[in-house]
Amino acid sequence: MMYPRLALLRQFLLPNGILMVSIDDNEVALAKLLMDEWFGTQNFVAQLVWEKGRKNDAKLFSIGHEYILVYARSRAELAKTLWRAPKDGIAEIAAEYRKLRAEHGENYKVISQGLAEFYRRLPKGHPSKKYSRAKNADRRGVWRDNNISWHGGGGPRYDLLHPVTGMACKVPDDGWRFVENSMKEKVRDEWVVFRRDHTEPPLLKSYIYMLEDSCDDNELNEGKKEVLGSVFYRHSQPSNDVMKDIFGEKVFPNPKDHEVLARLIRYVTDDDKNAVILDSFAGSGTTGHAVLNLNAQDGGGRRFILVEMEPKIAHEVTAERIRRVADGYKNAKGEKIEGLGGGFRYCELGEPLFDESGKIRETVSFSDLARHVYFTETGEPLPRGRVTKSPFLGECRGVGIYLLYNGILGDKSAQGGNILTRAVLARLPKFDGQKVIYCAGCLLGKDRLQAERIVIRQTPYEIKVS
Ligand SMILES: C[S@@+](CC[C@H](N)C(=O)[O-])C[C@H]1O[C@@H](n2cnc3c(N)ncnc32)[C@H](O)[C@@H]1O
Repeated sequence: MMYPRLALLRQFLLPNGILMVSIDDNEVALAKLLMDEWFGTQNFVAQLVWEKGRKNDAKLFSIGHEYILVYARSRAELAKTLWRAPKDGIAEIAAEYRKLRAEHGENYKVISQGLAEFYRRLPKGHPSKKYSRAKNADRRGVWRDNNISWHGGGGPRYDLLHPVTGMACKVPDDGWRFVENSMKEKVRDEWVVFRRDHTEPPLLKSYIYMLEDSCDDNELNEGKKEVLGSVFYRHSQPSNDVMKDIFGEKVFPNPKDHEVLARLIRYVTDDDKNAVILDSFAGSGTTGHAVLNLNAQDGGGRRFILVEMEPKIAHEVTAERIRRVADGYKNAKGEKIEGLGGGFRYCELGEPLFDESGKIRETVSFSDLARHVYFTETGEPLPRGRVTKSPFLGECRGVGIYLLYNGILGDKSAQGGNILTRAVLARLPKFDGQKVIYCAGCLLGKDRLQAERIVIRQTPYEIKVS
Protein backbone atom coordinates (compact mmCIF):
# COMPACT_ATOMS: atom_id res chain seq x y z
CA MET A 1 0.00 0.00 0.00
CA MET A 2 2.75 2.44 0.98
CA TYR A 3 4.96 1.99 -2.07
CA PRO A 4 2.68 3.29 -4.89
CA ARG A 5 1.67 6.25 -2.71
CA LEU A 6 5.27 7.25 -2.09
CA ALA A 7 6.10 6.81 -5.76
CA LEU A 8 3.26 9.08 -6.81
CA LEU A 9 4.00 11.71 -4.17
CA ARG A 10 7.64 11.93 -5.25
CA GLN A 11 6.48 12.70 -8.79
CA PHE A 12 4.50 15.70 -7.55
CA LEU A 13 7.51 17.35 -5.91
CA LEU A 14 9.34 20.32 -7.37
CA PRO A 15 13.09 19.78 -7.83
CA ASN A 16 13.66 21.50 -4.46
CA GLY A 17 10.53 19.99 -2.86
CA ILE A 18 10.45 17.84 0.24
CA LEU A 19 8.16 15.12 1.57
CA MET A 20 7.38 14.72 5.27
CA VAL A 21 5.77 11.47 6.36
CA SER A 22 4.24 11.28 9.80
CA ILE A 23 4.43 7.67 10.95
CA ASP A 24 4.28 5.68 14.17
CA ASP A 25 6.75 3.35 15.87
CA ASN A 26 5.28 0.21 14.25
CA GLU A 27 5.63 1.35 10.66
CA VAL A 28 8.65 3.63 10.69
CA ALA A 29 11.24 0.96 9.90
CA LEU A 30 9.46 -0.22 6.77
CA ALA A 31 8.63 3.31 5.64
CA LYS A 32 12.29 4.33 5.98
CA LEU A 33 13.43 1.38 3.84
CA LEU A 34 10.87 2.17 1.15
CA MET A 35 11.76 5.84 1.11
CA ASP A 36 15.48 5.10 1.00
CA GLU A 37 14.83 2.95 -2.04
CA TRP A 38 12.50 5.33 -3.82
CA PHE A 39 14.11 8.66 -2.99
CA GLY A 40 17.71 7.40 -2.63
CA THR A 41 19.57 7.37 0.70
CA GLN A 42 21.42 10.52 -0.40
CA ASN A 43 18.09 12.40 -0.23
CA PHE A 44 17.29 11.49 3.37
CA VAL A 45 17.12 14.71 5.41
CA ALA A 46 16.00 13.78 8.93
CA GLN A 47 13.97 11.45 11.11
CA LEU A 48 12.20 13.74 13.57
CA VAL A 49 10.95 12.38 16.88
CA TRP A 50 7.73 13.86 18.24
CA GLU A 51 7.27 13.06 21.95
CA LYS A 52 3.60 13.38 22.91
CA GLY A 53 3.50 12.32 26.54
CA ARG A 54 3.38 9.24 28.69
CA LYS A 55 0.47 6.79 29.11
CA ASN A 56 0.62 5.50 32.64
CA ASP A 57 -1.59 2.48 31.90
CA ALA A 58 1.03 0.87 29.58
CA LYS A 59 2.05 -2.64 30.72
CA LEU A 60 5.66 -2.52 29.52
CA PHE A 61 6.88 0.72 27.93
CA SER A 62 4.67 3.69 27.24
CA ILE A 63 5.24 4.47 23.57
CA GLY A 64 4.42 8.15 23.51
CA HIS A 65 6.33 9.27 20.45
CA GLU A 66 6.01 9.09 16.72
CA TYR A 67 8.19 10.06 13.79
CA ILE A 68 8.28 12.42 10.87
CA LEU A 69 10.51 11.18 8.04
CA VAL A 70 11.85 14.01 5.89
CA TYR A 71 13.17 13.36 2.37
CA ALA A 72 14.17 15.79 -0.35
CA ARG A 73 13.38 15.20 -3.98
CA SER A 74 17.02 16.18 -4.43
CA ARG A 75 19.28 17.23 -1.56
CA ALA A 76 21.65 18.72 -4.11
CA GLU A 77 18.92 21.27 -4.95
CA LEU A 78 18.89 22.30 -1.28
CA ALA A 79 22.66 22.80 -1.13
CA LYS A 80 22.35 26.57 -0.69
CA THR A 81 19.24 26.46 1.50
CA LEU A 82 19.45 27.37 5.19
CA TRP A 83 16.40 26.41 7.24
CA ARG A 84 15.86 28.55 10.34
CA ALA A 85 12.91 29.04 12.71
CA PRO A 86 11.92 31.89 15.00
CA LYS A 87 12.61 30.84 18.60
CA ASP A 88 9.57 29.54 20.46
CA GLY A 89 7.88 32.31 22.43
CA ILE A 90 9.51 35.24 20.62
CA ALA A 91 6.58 35.86 18.25
CA GLU A 92 4.28 36.62 21.21
CA ILE A 93 6.76 39.08 22.74
CA ALA A 94 7.18 40.80 19.37
CA ALA A 95 3.41 41.10 19.01
CA GLU A 96 3.13 42.60 22.53
CA TYR A 97 5.94 45.09 21.81
CA ARG A 98 4.26 46.18 18.55
CA LYS A 99 0.92 46.54 20.34
CA LEU A 100 2.47 48.64 23.13
CA ARG A 101 4.36 50.78 20.60
CA ALA A 102 1.08 51.45 18.77
CA GLU A 103 -0.55 52.48 22.08
CA HIS A 104 2.30 54.45 23.70
CA GLY A 105 4.50 55.62 20.85
CA GLU A 106 8.06 56.34 22.02
CA ASN A 107 7.28 56.22 25.73
CA TYR A 108 9.62 53.32 26.43
CA LYS A 109 9.25 53.55 30.19
CA VAL A 110 5.54 52.78 29.94
CA ILE A 111 6.19 50.15 27.25
CA SER A 112 8.70 48.43 29.58
CA GLN A 113 6.09 48.42 32.36
CA GLY A 114 3.62 46.92 29.88
CA LEU A 115 6.10 44.16 29.01
CA ALA A 116 6.64 43.34 32.70
CA GLU A 117 2.87 43.05 33.10
CA PHE A 118 2.68 40.86 29.97
CA TYR A 119 5.19 38.37 31.43
CA ARG A 120 3.31 38.33 34.74
CA ARG A 121 0.05 37.44 32.98
CA LEU A 122 1.51 34.49 31.04
CA PRO A 123 0.45 31.04 32.26
CA LYS A 124 3.11 28.82 33.83
CA GLY A 125 5.16 26.95 31.23
CA HIS A 126 4.42 29.43 28.43
CA PRO A 127 7.46 29.54 26.09
CA SER A 128 7.72 33.37 26.33
CA LYS A 129 8.08 33.20 30.09
CA LYS A 130 11.71 32.14 29.96
CA TYR A 131 12.53 35.53 28.41
CA SER A 132 10.92 37.51 31.23
CA ARG A 133 14.28 39.15 32.12
CA ALA A 134 13.97 40.97 28.80
CA LYS A 135 11.45 43.58 29.83
CA ASN A 136 13.24 46.70 28.65
CA ALA A 137 12.12 48.39 25.45
CA ASP A 138 13.65 50.95 23.14
CA ARG A 139 13.38 52.01 19.50
CA ARG A 140 15.15 48.81 18.39
CA GLY A 141 13.03 46.31 20.29
CA VAL A 142 13.01 44.35 23.56
CA TRP A 143 16.24 43.76 25.46
CA ARG A 144 17.80 42.46 28.63
CA ASP A 145 21.18 43.51 29.99
CA ASN A 146 24.27 41.43 29.46
CA ASN A 147 27.85 41.77 30.54
CA ILE A 148 30.23 43.74 28.39
CA SER A 149 33.41 41.76 28.93
CA TRP A 150 35.60 39.95 26.38
CA HIS A 151 34.68 36.24 26.10
CA GLY A 152 37.44 34.05 27.56
CA GLY A 153 39.58 36.87 28.96
CA GLY A 154 42.43 38.94 27.57
CA GLY A 155 40.23 41.71 26.14
CA PRO A 156 41.41 45.28 25.61
CA ARG A 157 41.72 47.60 28.62
CA TYR A 158 41.30 51.35 28.27
CA ASP A 159 39.50 54.18 30.04
CA LEU A 160 35.79 54.46 29.41
CA LEU A 161 34.45 57.58 31.12
CA HIS A 162 31.20 57.52 33.07
CA PRO A 163 28.80 60.14 31.59
CA VAL A 164 27.75 61.50 35.01
CA THR A 165 30.81 61.19 37.29
CA GLY A 166 33.31 61.76 34.44
CA MET A 167 35.58 59.07 36.01
CA ALA A 168 36.91 55.96 34.24
CA CYS A 169 34.51 53.02 34.71
CA LYS A 170 35.75 49.84 36.33
CA VAL A 171 37.22 47.58 33.60
CA PRO A 172 35.77 44.00 33.68
CA ASP A 173 38.27 41.30 34.76
CA ASP A 174 38.33 39.83 31.21
CA GLY A 175 38.76 43.24 29.54
CA TRP A 176 36.26 45.13 27.38
CA ARG A 177 34.15 43.25 24.83
CA PHE A 178 35.00 45.77 22.08
CA VAL A 179 38.10 47.62 20.96
CA GLU A 180 38.12 51.32 21.86
CA ASN A 181 36.69 52.70 18.59
CA SER A 182 33.85 50.15 18.42
CA MET A 183 33.06 50.86 22.08
CA LYS A 184 32.73 54.59 21.28
CA GLU A 185 30.25 53.75 18.51
CA LYS A 186 28.29 51.43 20.81
CA VAL A 187 28.04 54.18 23.45
CA ARG A 188 26.96 56.74 20.83
CA ASP A 189 24.29 54.37 19.42
CA GLU A 190 22.89 53.58 22.87
CA TRP A 191 23.88 49.93 23.10
CA VAL A 192 25.65 50.55 26.41
CA VAL A 193 23.85 51.04 29.73
CA PHE A 194 25.92 52.85 32.38
CA ARG A 195 25.42 52.05 36.06
CA ARG A 196 24.70 54.70 38.71
CA ASP A 197 28.42 55.55 38.88
CA HIS A 198 31.82 54.41 37.57
CA THR A 199 32.50 51.80 40.28
CA GLU A 200 30.79 49.04 38.27
CA PRO A 201 31.37 48.28 34.53
CA PRO A 202 28.43 49.30 32.32
CA LEU A 203 26.15 46.67 30.75
CA LEU A 204 25.41 45.77 27.15
CA LYS A 205 21.90 45.57 25.68
CA SER A 206 21.08 42.11 24.35
CA TYR A 207 17.90 41.95 22.30
CA ILE A 208 15.52 39.04 22.29
CA TYR A 209 13.31 40.81 19.77
CA MET A 210 14.68 43.36 17.39
CA LEU A 211 12.82 45.24 14.69
CA GLU A 212 14.05 44.25 11.25
CA ASP A 213 17.03 46.24 9.94
CA SER A 214 17.92 47.51 13.45
CA CYS A 215 21.20 45.61 13.42
CA ASP A 216 22.75 42.69 11.60
CA ASP A 217 25.10 41.73 14.44
CA ASN A 218 23.77 38.30 15.51
CA GLU A 219 25.62 38.46 18.80
CA LEU A 220 23.48 41.37 19.94
CA ASN A 221 20.28 39.75 18.69
CA GLU A 222 19.71 36.74 20.91
CA GLY A 223 16.22 36.18 19.54
CA LYS A 224 17.48 35.60 16.04
CA LYS A 225 16.16 32.52 14.27
CA GLU A 226 17.48 29.13 15.31
CA VAL A 227 18.04 25.77 13.72
CA LEU A 228 15.47 23.13 14.74
CA GLY A 229 16.54 19.97 16.50
CA SER A 230 15.34 16.52 15.51
CA VAL A 231 13.47 15.79 18.77
CA PHE A 232 10.61 17.88 20.06
CA TYR A 233 7.83 17.64 22.60
CA ARG A 234 4.21 18.56 22.13
CA HIS A 235 1.39 16.86 23.98
CA SER A 236 -1.51 15.53 21.91
CA GLN A 237 -4.24 17.12 24.03
CA PRO A 238 -4.14 20.68 22.58
CA SER A 239 -4.95 19.39 19.08
CA ASN A 240 -8.06 17.64 20.43
CA ASP A 241 -9.02 20.82 22.26
CA VAL A 242 -8.68 22.87 19.07
CA MET A 243 -11.07 20.54 17.23
CA LYS A 244 -13.51 20.66 20.12
CA ASP A 245 -13.36 24.43 20.08
CA ILE A 246 -14.15 24.53 16.35
CA PHE A 247 -16.87 21.84 16.28
CA GLY A 248 -18.16 21.79 19.85
CA GLU A 249 -17.65 17.99 20.01
CA LYS A 250 -15.17 15.30 19.07
CA VAL A 251 -15.52 14.72 15.32
CA PHE A 252 -12.17 13.15 14.42
CA PRO A 253 -9.81 10.77 16.26
CA ASN A 254 -6.18 11.89 16.75
CA PRO A 255 -5.98 15.06 14.70
CA LYS A 256 -2.45 16.40 14.25
CA ASP A 257 -1.41 19.60 15.97
CA HIS A 258 -1.75 22.59 13.64
CA GLU A 259 0.87 24.61 15.54
CA VAL A 260 3.47 21.86 15.12
CA LEU A 261 2.66 21.57 11.41
CA ALA A 262 2.76 25.37 11.01
CA ARG A 263 6.19 25.49 12.64
CA LEU A 264 7.51 22.79 10.30
CA ILE A 265 5.90 24.34 7.22
CA ARG A 266 7.25 27.79 8.12
CA TYR A 267 10.69 26.25 8.65
CA VAL A 268 10.89 24.67 5.21
CA THR A 269 9.11 27.46 3.28
CA ASP A 270 10.87 30.45 4.87
CA ASP A 271 12.38 31.39 1.51
CA ASP A 272 9.19 30.70 -0.47
CA LYS A 273 6.10 32.05 1.22
CA ASN A 274 4.05 31.12 -1.88
CA ALA A 275 4.86 27.42 -1.69
CA VAL A 276 2.18 24.79 -2.37
CA ILE A 277 1.66 22.26 0.42
CA LEU A 278 -0.04 18.97 -0.42
CA ASP A 279 -1.51 16.68 2.23
CA SER A 280 -2.78 13.51 0.60
CA PHE A 281 -4.24 12.10 3.84
CA ALA A 282 -6.00 15.21 5.01
CA GLY A 283 -8.28 13.81 7.73
CA SER A 284 -9.38 16.70 9.94
CA GLY A 285 -7.66 19.28 7.68
CA THR A 286 -4.88 20.22 10.11
CA THR A 287 -2.48 21.05 7.28
CA GLY A 288 -4.91 23.54 5.70
CA HIS A 289 -5.52 25.15 9.10
CA ALA A 290 -1.75 25.43 9.66
CA VAL A 291 -1.22 27.07 6.26
CA LEU A 292 -4.00 29.63 6.77
CA ASN A 293 -2.64 30.44 10.22
CA LEU A 294 0.88 30.94 8.92
CA ASN A 295 -0.26 33.16 6.06
CA ALA A 296 -2.26 35.27 8.50
CA GLN A 297 0.82 35.64 10.74
CA ASP A 298 3.47 36.46 8.16
CA GLY A 299 1.48 37.70 5.17
CA GLY A 300 2.55 34.69 3.06
CA GLY A 301 0.58 33.37 0.10
CA ARG A 302 1.14 29.66 0.64
CA ARG A 303 -1.54 27.42 -0.90
CA PHE A 304 -2.68 23.96 0.14
CA ILE A 305 -4.15 20.92 -1.57
CA LEU A 306 -5.92 18.52 0.77
CA VAL A 307 -7.00 15.05 -0.37
CA GLU A 308 -9.42 12.99 1.70
CA MET A 309 -10.79 9.64 0.58
CA GLU A 310 -13.88 9.38 2.80
CA PRO A 311 -16.63 11.63 1.40
CA LYS A 312 -18.27 12.14 4.79
CA ILE A 313 -15.00 13.19 6.44
CA ALA A 314 -14.04 15.35 3.45
CA HIS A 315 -17.34 17.20 3.48
CA GLU A 316 -18.23 17.39 7.16
CA VAL A 317 -14.81 17.62 8.79
CA THR A 318 -11.97 18.54 6.42
CA ALA A 319 -13.78 21.19 4.38
CA GLU A 320 -15.93 22.37 7.28
CA ARG A 321 -12.92 22.98 9.54
CA ILE A 322 -11.16 25.02 6.85
CA ARG A 323 -14.34 26.97 6.13
CA ARG A 324 -14.77 27.83 9.83
CA VAL A 325 -11.20 28.86 10.53
CA ALA A 326 -11.04 30.88 7.30
CA ASP A 327 -14.36 32.71 7.78
CA GLY A 328 -14.58 32.79 11.58
CA TYR A 329 -16.86 30.79 13.86
CA LYS A 330 -18.52 30.69 17.25
CA ASN A 331 -16.54 28.42 19.54
CA ALA A 332 -17.77 25.91 22.09
CA LYS A 333 -18.02 28.69 24.73
CA GLY A 334 -20.12 30.82 22.37
CA GLU A 335 -17.29 33.31 21.75
CA LYS A 336 -16.85 34.75 18.27
CA ILE A 337 -13.51 33.70 16.77
CA GLU A 338 -12.20 35.92 13.99
CA GLY A 339 -11.54 34.22 10.65
CA LEU A 340 -7.97 33.84 9.41
CA GLY A 341 -8.97 34.75 5.85
CA GLY A 342 -8.25 32.73 2.72
CA GLY A 343 -10.47 30.10 1.18
CA PHE A 344 -10.53 27.00 -1.01
CA ARG A 345 -12.27 25.25 -3.87
CA TYR A 346 -13.98 21.93 -3.10
CA CYS A 347 -13.64 19.29 -5.84
CA GLU A 348 -14.96 15.75 -6.02
CA LEU A 349 -13.28 12.99 -7.95
CA GLY A 350 -15.54 11.50 -10.65
CA GLU A 351 -15.28 8.17 -12.49
CA PRO A 352 -11.99 7.69 -14.40
CA LEU A 353 -12.36 9.14 -17.92
CA PHE A 354 -9.72 6.98 -19.60
CA ASP A 355 -8.98 3.26 -19.66
CA GLU A 356 -5.52 1.74 -19.19
CA SER A 357 -4.60 2.33 -22.84
CA GLY A 358 -5.55 6.01 -22.69
CA LYS A 359 -8.89 5.61 -24.55
CA ILE A 360 -11.94 7.50 -23.40
CA ARG A 361 -14.16 5.02 -21.56
CA GLU A 362 -17.43 4.28 -23.33
CA THR A 363 -19.44 5.08 -20.24
CA VAL A 364 -18.09 8.64 -19.95
CA SER A 365 -20.85 11.22 -20.33
CA PHE A 366 -20.54 14.33 -22.49
CA SER A 367 -20.71 16.66 -19.50
CA ASP A 368 -17.95 14.82 -17.58
CA LEU A 369 -15.61 14.92 -20.56
CA ALA A 370 -16.57 18.55 -21.22
CA ARG A 371 -15.56 19.53 -17.68
CA HIS A 372 -12.23 17.76 -18.06
CA VAL A 373 -11.49 19.27 -21.49
CA TYR A 374 -12.41 22.78 -20.36
CA PHE A 375 -10.23 22.52 -17.25
CA THR A 376 -7.15 21.08 -18.95
CA GLU A 377 -7.45 23.61 -21.80
CA THR A 378 -7.98 26.72 -19.69
CA GLY A 379 -6.77 25.86 -16.19
CA GLU A 380 -10.21 26.98 -14.92
CA PRO A 381 -13.11 24.78 -13.85
CA LEU A 382 -16.23 24.95 -15.98
CA PRO A 383 -18.42 27.26 -13.90
CA ARG A 384 -21.09 25.40 -11.98
CA GLY A 385 -24.45 25.48 -13.67
CA ARG A 386 -22.95 26.10 -17.13
CA VAL A 387 -25.10 24.10 -19.59
CA THR A 388 -22.99 21.35 -21.10
CA LYS A 389 -25.60 20.10 -23.54
CA SER A 390 -24.01 22.16 -26.27
CA PRO A 391 -20.71 21.59 -28.11
CA PHE A 392 -19.79 25.17 -27.17
CA LEU A 393 -18.46 24.81 -23.62
CA GLY A 394 -17.77 28.47 -23.06
CA GLU A 395 -15.31 31.29 -23.46
CA CYS A 396 -12.17 31.75 -21.42
CA ARG A 397 -9.85 34.75 -21.83
CA GLY A 398 -11.24 35.50 -25.31
CA VAL A 399 -11.03 31.92 -26.63
CA GLY A 400 -14.12 29.80 -27.37
CA ILE A 401 -13.83 26.13 -26.35
CA TYR A 402 -15.82 23.46 -28.25
CA LEU A 403 -16.13 19.72 -27.86
CA LEU A 404 -17.57 17.30 -30.44
CA TYR A 405 -18.16 14.02 -28.66
CA ASN A 406 -20.80 11.39 -28.15
CA GLY A 407 -23.02 12.72 -30.95
CA ILE A 408 -23.64 15.97 -29.14
CA LEU A 409 -25.13 17.35 -32.35
CA GLY A 410 -27.61 14.48 -32.58
CA ASP A 411 -25.74 12.06 -34.86
CA LYS A 412 -25.10 8.92 -32.80
CA SER A 413 -23.23 6.94 -35.50
CA ALA A 414 -19.65 5.84 -34.71
CA GLN A 415 -17.88 9.06 -35.68
CA GLY A 416 -20.95 11.02 -36.75
CA GLY A 417 -20.98 14.60 -35.58
CA ASN A 418 -17.62 14.16 -33.91
CA ILE A 419 -15.76 15.05 -37.10
CA LEU A 420 -15.52 18.69 -38.05
CA THR A 421 -16.95 19.11 -41.57
CA ARG A 422 -18.40 22.20 -43.31
CA ALA A 423 -21.89 21.00 -42.35
CA VAL A 424 -20.91 20.44 -38.70
CA LEU A 425 -19.18 23.82 -38.54
CA ALA A 426 -22.32 25.52 -39.86
CA ARG A 427 -24.32 23.97 -37.00
CA LEU A 428 -21.95 25.00 -34.21
CA PRO A 429 -22.98 27.90 -31.96
CA LYS A 430 -21.23 31.02 -33.22
CA PHE A 431 -18.27 32.58 -31.44
CA ASP A 432 -16.54 35.62 -32.85
CA GLY A 433 -12.89 35.04 -32.00
CA GLN A 434 -10.22 32.38 -31.60
CA LYS A 435 -11.75 28.90 -31.24
CA VAL A 436 -10.31 25.63 -29.94
CA ILE A 437 -12.32 22.63 -31.15
CA TYR A 438 -11.82 19.15 -29.72
CA CYS A 439 -13.02 16.58 -32.30
CA ALA A 440 -12.28 13.05 -33.56
CA GLY A 441 -11.17 14.36 -36.96
CA CYS A 442 -11.32 17.38 -39.26
CA LEU A 443 -12.15 17.56 -42.98
CA LEU A 444 -11.61 21.32 -43.30
CA GLY A 445 -8.56 22.64 -45.13
CA LYS A 446 -5.78 24.69 -43.55
CA ASP A 447 -6.97 27.95 -45.16
CA ARG A 448 -10.51 27.55 -43.93
CA LEU A 449 -9.32 26.80 -40.40
CA GLN A 450 -7.09 29.87 -40.47
CA ALA A 451 -9.89 32.07 -41.84
CA GLU A 452 -12.27 30.82 -39.14
CA ARG A 453 -9.51 31.16 -36.46
CA ILE A 454 -9.90 27.52 -35.44
CA VAL A 455 -7.29 25.38 -33.66
CA ILE A 456 -8.05 21.65 -33.81
CA ARG A 457 -7.27 19.30 -30.93
CA GLN A 458 -7.85 15.70 -31.87
CA THR A 459 -9.62 13.45 -29.41
CA PRO A 460 -8.67 11.35 -27.63
CA TYR A 461 -4.93 11.91 -28.22
CA GLU A 462 -4.81 15.62 -27.51
CA ILE A 463 -6.96 15.49 -24.42
CA LYS A 464 -4.56 15.89 -21.58
CA VAL A 465 -4.82 13.02 -19.15
CA SER A 466 -3.51 15.15 -16.30
C1 LIG B 1 -4.45 9.41 10.13
S1 LIG B 1 -5.64 10.33 9.30
C2 LIG B 1 -4.86 11.85 8.99
C3 LIG B 1 -4.98 12.78 10.11
C4 LIG B 1 -4.63 14.17 9.72
N1 LIG B 1 -3.20 14.36 9.59
C5 LIG B 1 -5.22 15.14 10.73
O1 LIG B 1 -4.51 15.95 11.30
O2 LIG B 1 -6.41 15.04 10.98
C6 LIG B 1 -5.62 9.63 7.70
C7 LIG B 1 -6.73 10.13 6.81
O3 LIG B 1 -6.39 9.80 5.48
C8 LIG B 1 -7.54 9.27 4.82
N2 LIG B 1 -7.04 8.36 3.77
C9 LIG B 1 -6.59 7.09 3.90
N3 LIG B 1 -6.17 6.61 2.71
C10 LIG B 1 -6.34 7.59 1.81
C11 LIG B 1 -6.09 7.72 0.41
N4 LIG B 1 -5.60 6.71 -0.28
N5 LIG B 1 -6.38 8.90 -0.19
C12 LIG B 1 -6.88 9.93 0.52
N6 LIG B 1 -7.16 9.87 1.84
C13 LIG B 1 -6.89 8.72 2.49
C14 LIG B 1 -8.35 8.62 5.90
O4 LIG B 1 -9.74 8.59 5.57
C15 LIG B 1 -8.07 9.51 7.10
O5 LIG B 1 -9.04 10.52 7.22
